[in-house]
Amino acid sequence: MSNIRTQPPRPAGQEQPPGEHGRPPAVEMNDVTKAYDGGLIKALNGLSLRAGRGESVAVTGPSGCGKSTMLHLIAALDRPTSGTIRVSGADLAKEEKLPGYRRRHIGLVFQLHNLLPQLTAVQNIEVAMFGTHLSRRQRRDRARTLLADVDLAGLEARPPTKLSGGERQRVAIARALANEPELLLADEPTGSLDERSVDLVLDLFARLRAERPGMTMIIVTHDVRVAGTADRIIWLRDGRVDYAHRAAGSA
Ligand SMILES: Nc1ncnc2c1ncn2[C@@H]1O[C@H](COP(=O)(O)OP(=O)(O)OP(=O)(O)O)[C@@H](O)[C@H]1O
Ligand SMILES: [Mg+2]
Repeated sequence: MSNIRTQPPRPAGQEQPPGEHGRPPAVEMNDVTKAYDGGLIKALNGLSLRAGRGESVAVTGPSGCGKSTMLHLIAALDRPTSGTIRVSGADLAKEEKLPGYRRRHIGLVFQLHNLLPQLTAVQNIEVAMFGTHLSRRQRRDRARTLLADVDLAGLEARPPTKLSGGERQRVAIARALANEPELLLADEPTGSLDERSVDLVLDLFARLRAERPGMTMIIVTHDVRVAGTADRIIWLRDGRVDYAHRAAGSA
């Protein structure tokens, strides 16, 4: 774990995001649970965490500890069984127009990238911009630029079935960025990538952080290189925060 400072971990709940200057944190989860099968399975079990505006948080932990569940709840793709989730101060339980909420605020890279197989790479990105003020031409131009950003220029017309796993993952990242989200949620964004593609994604994230300092990133990852670029690393275990600490190089 060369990039990660080896200071003793802080106990759960004591980690603090950077100063908010009086504004609400980007994400605030309080005592969140998510139960399945009538309570037999507790995917989340009292999870509390905060992510400051512009902060980059890496989330890690063993398979089944609730990482994907947590991201899906923040993206309002599902509802918690109990507890509250606020995004930029707004309680998601009171949000009425969830598709609009997601389009305005969230860029989500799914663990299994969820591209539409019947569409080309460029069309998969364009659909994320439906319902915005952009014209068809602007959507196409932006989708092409985003594909070039993830080093996929020239592959615009390919459907996902004719792309490698790593290429699909990069299309999914480009799609998540289409609407300039305030909050980028990524579930193992480098999980199926080779070394060179991981470098490309890390460069892209670094550029995004420089160009869009207000964008908050929550990235589920097992990759120490990815985790090492975050401001803070949070370990989950059994559906709650086990411990958290600041990564090297952050304030
Ligand atoms: N729809 C569901 N119905 C029942 N149980 C579920 C459902 N979705 C997730 N679970 C269970 O909830 C727990 C947390 O799942 P989750 O997908 O959040 O784990 P994860 O930390 O993302 O794991 P991985 O690293 O393998 O992706 C697991 O025990 C999983 O089996
Ligand atoms: Mg998962």
